[in-house]
Amino acid sequence: MTKIISPSLLSADFGNLEAACKMINASEAEWLHIDVMDGVFVPNISFGFPVLEAVNKYCNKPLDVHLMIVHPEKYITRFAKAGADILTFHYETVENPLEIIELIKSEGIKVGITINPDVPVSVLEPYVDTVDLVLLMTVFAGYGGQQFIEDSYARIAELREMIERKNAHCVIEVDGGVNVQNAQQLFDSGVNVLVAGSAVFNANNPIETIHNMLKG
Ligand code: DX5
Ligand code: ZN
Repeated sequence: MTKIISPSLLSADFGNLEAACKMINASEAEWLHIDVMDGVFVPNISFGFPVLEAVNKYCNKPLDVHLMIVHPEKYITRFAKAGADILTFHYETVENPLEIIELIKSEGIKVGITINPDVPVSVLEPYVDTVDLVLLMTVFAGYGGQQFIEDSYARIAELREMIERKNAHCVIEVDGGVNVQNAQQLFDSGVNVLVAGSAVFNANNPIETIHNMLKG
């Protein structure tokens, strides 16, 4: 089974993004997670294209971009050009998810769909066999450093069952409150990609922390 760690740049030192990218390059992290927040869909604002372009210059791992913005359709081409390798949008922000999925695919990059913890997993049913990735939020999108919502395990099991029943090939990613303590249980539950912000970037040794999350 695919097991990937995607550290979230949101918890990095923004005064030294080059160092953060070098750490990622030297680590066993396969992807780098980039959180884009607009202050509308979520209460917080993070960063946009110039930061993504800078990170793309220094980071040699795929950029896993998580859009927490309204009207994602307006910006898909720009995110692809700025260096996104995987572009994930929130189901809650669009009227026609299939249209957005096709737009992202037409840029020649991977597409993900995500939902907050209060959205039923069943809404994903029509999309699991057309996307590359489904991201289940394990905190409410908006901030790093929140506590993992334990009910998420039942949602992961429901999604895993749905993917198998539909013989789909997307990977399952979770985001929020992931740390060395729960990483193994999450992989054992059928999660393929763990996003971890504060657990990685606030650690004394981020490279070792990434290794420990994978090792189990
Ligand atoms: C939250 C973001 C997360 C965040 C995770 O809205 O989507 O990617 O950086 O942070 P931690 O791992 O600290 O919960
Ligand atoms: Zn995220």
